[in-house]
Amino acid sequence: MGRLSGKRAFITGAGGGIGAAIARRFADEGADVGLADINADLLRETAGTIADAQSFVVDVCDRAALANAVNTFATDGLDIFVNNAVAFFYAPLTEMPEDAVDRMLNVGIKGTFWGTSAATPHLIARGGGTIINLSSIAVSFAIKNAAVYTSVKGAIDAFTRQQAVELGGHDIRVNALAPGTVSTPGARSVIEEEGWEKRRLLSPMGRLIEDTEVADAAVFLASDAAATITGVTLKIDAGLTIAGPR
Ligand SMILES: NC(=O)c1ccc[n+]([C@@H]2O[C@H](COP(=O)([O-])OP(=O)(O)OC[C@H]3O[C@@H](n4cnc5c(N)ncnc54)[C@H](O)[C@@H]3O)[C@@H](O)[C@H]2O)c1
Repeated sequence: MGRLSGKRAFITGAGGGIGAAIARRFADEGADVGLADINADLLRETAGTIADAQSFVVDVCDRAALANAVNTFATDGLDIFVNNAVAFFYAPLTEMPEDAVDRMLNVGIKGTFWGTSAATPHLIARGGGTIINLSSIAVSFAIKNAAVYTSVKGAIDAFTRQQAVELGGHDIRVNALAPGTVSTPGARSVIEEEGWEKRRLLSPMGRLIEDTEVADAAVFLASDAAATITGVTLKIDAGLTIAGPR
């Protein structure tokens, strides 16, 4: 029996990268999954690898459309909700196009607000559940040209703690995952070639992170093994953020 048998999980940004890896691991652990993504082609590809996945082509910035998708999936119940969708853009602040900033704030912050607000009544109706937000190690230190991205992720950490307190009385746990560098289409679009090796060498373990390793941590946080864990941001970074000069 899987660690998430009988659970129903909805994941945003599940068409590719970390979101797709989480969806696959949740399904491996016995969960029924709902996948949401703005990119219909990616979504179809990922859904094709997961038996009985329900797919929703939706922009998380569109509050009503996201709520509609969540409501449809939650007709049969909802136990786990993952706010994972993101928009990446790295540039010096003076060179950040305003539309890119708007997109990052809308997808990363408002998308997480809308996902959480759509999921909450269903989790309450179920008698409890869990929400997992995607933060980043970018909150722990400054990354070149990533001021807007790190700000989005800092907001996610604050929001996670806030919601953990607000929803704790309903037996809803709210946590965040802060992955180190994972090779995904999004990360590859903003990290230059030499940046990967730099990050690998900075880690005390001399390694980057696999999307499946983030997914394993998501399974743990979503499972009963984490029954008393709420309001935390769990780093999955092979020690990168605690390493000083050495
Ligand atoms: N990759 C890393 O190194 C890394 C590190 C730390 C944290 N994270 C976090 O993990 C999460 C996933 O990152 P990733 O690297 O897999 O990203 P990615 O860009 O590779 O994948 C993101 C997915 O979200 C979808 N998406 C984008 N905008 C959307 C919208 N408006 N509505 C619905 N779906 C939308 C994309 O189509 C894509 O399938 C993000 O929250 C990111 O900040 C990633």
